[in-house]
Amino acid sequence: MKTTEIRPDIFWVGAVDWNNRDFHGYSIKKGTTYNAYLIRDEKTVLFDTVRQGFKSDLLHNLHQVIAPEKIDYIVVNHVELDHSGCLPELVELIKPEKIFCSPMGHKVLLEHFHRPDWPYQVVKTGDEIKLGKRTVRFIETRMLHWPDSMFSYIPEEKLLISSDAFGQHWATSERFDDQVEESELLAHAAKYYANILLLYSPLVQKLLAEVAAPGGPAVEIIAPDHGLIWRRNPGAIIDAYGRWSRQESRRKAVIVYDTMWHSTEKMARAVESGLQQEGIEEIRLLHARKNHRSDIMTEVLDARALILGSATLNNNIMPAMADVLTYMKGLRPKEKIGAAFGSYGWSGEAVKHLQAFLDEMGIPAAGEGVRIKNVPGHDSLKACVELGRAVAKAM
Ligand code: FEO
Repeated sequence: MKTTEIRPDIFWVGAVDWNNRDFHGYSIKKGTTYNAYLIRDEKTVLFDTVRQGFKSDLLHNLHQVIAPEKIDYIVVNHVELDHSGCLPELVELIKPEKIFCSPMGHKVLLEHFHRPDWPYQVVKTGDEIKLGKRTVRFIETRMLHWPDSMFSYIPEEKLLISSDAFGQHWATSERFDDQVEESELLAHAAKYYANILLLYSPLVQKLLAEVAAPGGPAVEIIAPDHGLIWRRNPGAIIDAYGRWSRQESRRKAVIVYDTMWHSTEKMARAVESGLQQEGIEEIRLLHARKNHRSDIMTEVLDARALILGSATLNNNIMPAMADVLTYMKGLRPKEKIGAAFGSYGWSGEAVKHLQAFLDEMGIPAAGEGVRIKNVPGHDSLKACVELGRAVAKAM
């Protein structure tokens, strides 16, 4: 691995994690990167560090540019441990003159590392530091996605170091958007948005109005803390964040279900048939035990209909549905139409529980939930076909 110069004297010095497959419950099938950046100027600055276990990668990259001891400042844009895991060791080695962080960053750093003796300098939105030829201007981005999060903007380079925003979990040897397929890049970015930022969509809207509107800071390069750097077309990810944060949807239906002995699965297929009869072509049938919760969430991001199915198990829904729906509820998908169905043997509470999840998410039901006792026959499946048709008409 070598460091990458992204502008003269500005370097990517992070680490590539090829083997990680789980990011606190989000499946990252192609690994991730922990991006850190270095600006070499009269004052040399390191922006963020990397996850614990990757210190040698960071140091190897730094040594290609500068002896780490010669770094003057560390900027902590975000304290989450994938970016600050190596901070204590780097502070020990570098002995920085200053550690810049947001007001909440200061608090969170103290709560993580318990080092009141570090040379913190708290900065707020609009504060600037002069490095020599370049300036770093700070932009607090509270709750995108932690209270401490902030961006660092370098106006002379039109460079936005954007912390977790605009990132993707994707391990690559390439560092820039123009070196990979844009469709795959945007698919990874969509998954990242759906699973990390969807909940904060109103704040993303506000942020876009500040940093991406006419009159805002000129941005030619967006350098996030994960994945590829946007230099060919930063507008692609800005536009995508606009769509995702408005929760724009397509004529697409997602049926998420779990089934005990395939009766609820038969119902799911009958609902699909009803959707198709009314002209819905983009339908995803997602078995909750065969699809990861984070992949389900990615499909839900731009779907107009969310249809839930579960067999009744012990007066409740199937455990994998509880997992997916608890996760989904936390991410607050909006602007959708819902429905529920499920088979049962004797008591049949699952549909009631599924409808409660839809209610809690503020997703209106397009029709009465359908319950079928034991194994559905051709005639009883008609109710599921009708449910699919009702959802399609409401979409
Ligand atoms: Fe990539 Fe919120 O840490």
